Amino acid sequence: MVSMTQGMGQKNSAHPRGFANWLQLCTRWLGHDSVVGMERSAEELAQTARLEDFYMLSRSPVIQNVTDQVYGCGYIGHSYTTRSEADEIIAELGLNADSALLDLGAGAGWPGLYFAKKSGCTVTLLDLPEAGLLIARERAIEDGMASRVKTVQGDATNIPFDAGSFSNITHSDVLCCLLSKKRVLKECRRVILDTGRMAFSVIDAAPNLSKPGRAKALDAGPEFMDSRQPYSSMLSETGWRVVSQTDLTAELELAYTAMINAERSNEAELRRLGGDDYYDDGQTNWVKKLSAVREGLIRRDLYIVAPA
Ligand SMILES: C[S@@+](CC[C@H](N)C(=O)[O-])C[C@H]1O[C@@H](n2cnc3c(N)ncnc32)[C@H](O)[C@@H]1O
Repeated sequence: MVSMTQGMGQKNSAHPRGFANWLQLCTRWLGHDSVVGMERSAEELAQTARLEDFYMLSRSPVIQNVTDQVYGCGYIGHSYTTRSEADEIIAELGLNADSALLDLGAGAGWPGLYFAKKSGCTVTLLDLPEAGLLIARERAIEDGMASRVKTVQGDATNIPFDAGSFSNITHSDVLCCLLSKKRVLKECRRVILDTGRMAFSVIDAAPNLSKPGRAKALDAGPEFMDSRQPYSSMLSETGWRVVSQTDLTAELELAYTAMINAERSNEAELRRLGGDDYYDDGQTNWVKKLSAVREGLIRRDLYIVAPA
């Protein structure tokens, strides 16, 4: 979400010295599970490496500042989920102390930790970069919620849980960050109870674009946004029925605008943190995204779905 990923997209993603050791120590100390196994493309692996870097850097107060300015969420946000959208999801899913929630692509804990804090549910946060999960784990401990929060390093295309393990599933702009969208939807159906509900947001190219329009949309949107099949048919083929679909494209435009302004107002700090290329590439990317959304090339939707 914060343009660290945009700027760093062009860079070599070598980890800082000692990073691996630090990560191993933290993993043991904080006691989170690590279950990775699926084969992923070189591009997906590169994205995860960039995100490890991003989540490491997001410990810097300037990233927290920017995130708060744009989403007012109080966590490190890397999706476009706002606090009011998160509140709507809690209501739509009917989350409460009896709910067992799985948040896929959980990042550094937004919005999964917020769902648990507000509703009293238990939450399993699953993602690939360890650095984000460690931040989430620390935050859960700080907020006195450690017993209700589990962090798992794992792949959403091969969810390491038994069938029917969860009453609810959420994922925020995750399907546009991976290739095997249908496989993830199928896995979600496997691990959710027949009585469960799932909420997810996703960015997609607008329908019926001309060839150049679609190429422009794919260039501006998230790296794995391209979904050759509409979400409605992917959902029905993987065992889901759509309860509601809400168009959040206007909110996406607001988020891009707010991000451009938030980064500009923190320019000096961001340049110090990530370097000039990082800041300049970030701004270029946000402006490109904003113009694509204004031209009607990309859209964002919130889906509430239930087992068919
Ligand atoms: C847009 S970010 C959302 C992060 C966080 N939930 C938030 O809202 O700030 C998408 C997340 O999906 C994760 N992701 C991508 N592919 C994944 C996969 N195959 N399995 C699990 N997580 C994945 C990324 O690592 C990234 O953290």
